[in-house]
Amino acid sequence: AAAEKGGFESFMDKEIHDQPQAVGDTLLGRTDVDGRLILDDLKIDEAVLRSVDKIVVIACGTAAYAGHVAKYAIEHWCRIPVEVELAHEFRYRDPVVNEKTLVVAITQSGETMDTLMAVRHAREQGAKVISIVNTNGSTIPRESDAVLYTHAGPEIAVASTKAFLSQITAAYVLGLYLAQLRGNKFPDEIALLMDELRDMPRKIQTVIERGEYVRSTARSMKDASSVLFLGRHVGFPVAMEGALKLKELAYIHAEGFAAGELKHGPIALIDEGQPVFVVVPSPRGRDSLHSKVVSNIQEIRARGARTLVIAEDGDDSVKAFADEIFWIPQVPTLMQPLLATVPLQIFAMALATAKGLDVDQPRNLAKSVTVE
Ligand code: G6P
Repeated sequence: AAAEKGGFESFMDKEIHDQPQAVGDTLLGRTDVDGRLILDDLKIDEAVLRSVDKIVVIACGTAAYAGHVAKYAIEHWCRIPVEVELAHEFRYRDPVVNEKTLVVAITQSGETMDTLMAVRHAREQGAKVISIVNTNGSTIPRESDAVLYTHAGPEIAVASTKAFLSQITAAYVLGLYLAQLRGNKFPDEIALLMDELRDMPRKIQTVIERGEYVRSTARSMKDASSVLFLGRHVGFPVAMEGALKLKELAYIHAEGFAAGELKHGPIALIDEGQPVFVVVPSPRGRDSLHSKVVSNIQEIRARGARTLVIAEDGDDSVKAFADEIFWIPQVPTLMQPLLATVPLQIFAMALATAKGLDVDQPRNLAKSVTVE
């Protein structure tokens, strides 16, 4: 087993370090000689894909957060409404699904029973199903109309890391493919976005190389009893994923919130010393997202929170209100989840390790849940 871990302390640590490659491999072979996107493993008639009027993403756990991230990108690029739903909720609420619905099932294992049952239900209603799957030859791709494989390689640690980043990547490629097919974007715009994606492995590597500061912060916080996570736009699902990692690995109460929701409730939880992670969007974004999140940091800091801020290189506006800053390279906001998630993974792993817990096999959890 030591050899399989490639010299790392745990499979999780290895898989965190595998992420640049996992994202890079998921992007391989997606364009033809003219730079147009091609998805060989997509076997749905193009006319059907052009007529889609709604996308529903179904998934469980971490894969569902990848779906939440993808919603922002796909709606923005394709102008198709996207819903994201937990697979086990989807099926039991009589969802509005028909021949014009494209269901995207996201699953690392391809075996999650809740997701499989939702796929079956969607197809019975006439929807087409594309699955985004990491495990070749698993059940869900066999029962889907088409499959887009993530090429993250086997993920052994129960808590998902490299599969998550690969799922976001694959869902983005699918979104760009649909935008190309439906004429929502010019080929040169798509080529630019693909170039941005292809540049992400290098930037993910940079974030991993800065991991030691995250680890030492985590070790100093091993007695924390609750940690909150705030984000806005794509930073919101990142915050939820950061909270999930901490629950799964360190058995600490953790919750992710939309930063704008703070004043509608969660701010009541803030008191002296409460640790709060905040994912700060790019200051170069078009709208005022960035300044709104910076005011949120100010508000919670004024109420005693210990602020752990994930911000872009060069974003000096956060310095005055941050107790700790985890810097990430500059990227457009939609690309930021591929970077901002990484310090949160490392934080949860290091804190759990400091508590003496087994990060690869957390209590009560299974890698793949094959019962409903
Ligand atoms: C289990 C795992 C999670 C995973 C979820 C969905 O609960 O513990 O880490 O996110 O299943 O798994 P899937 O294989 O469908 O992505």
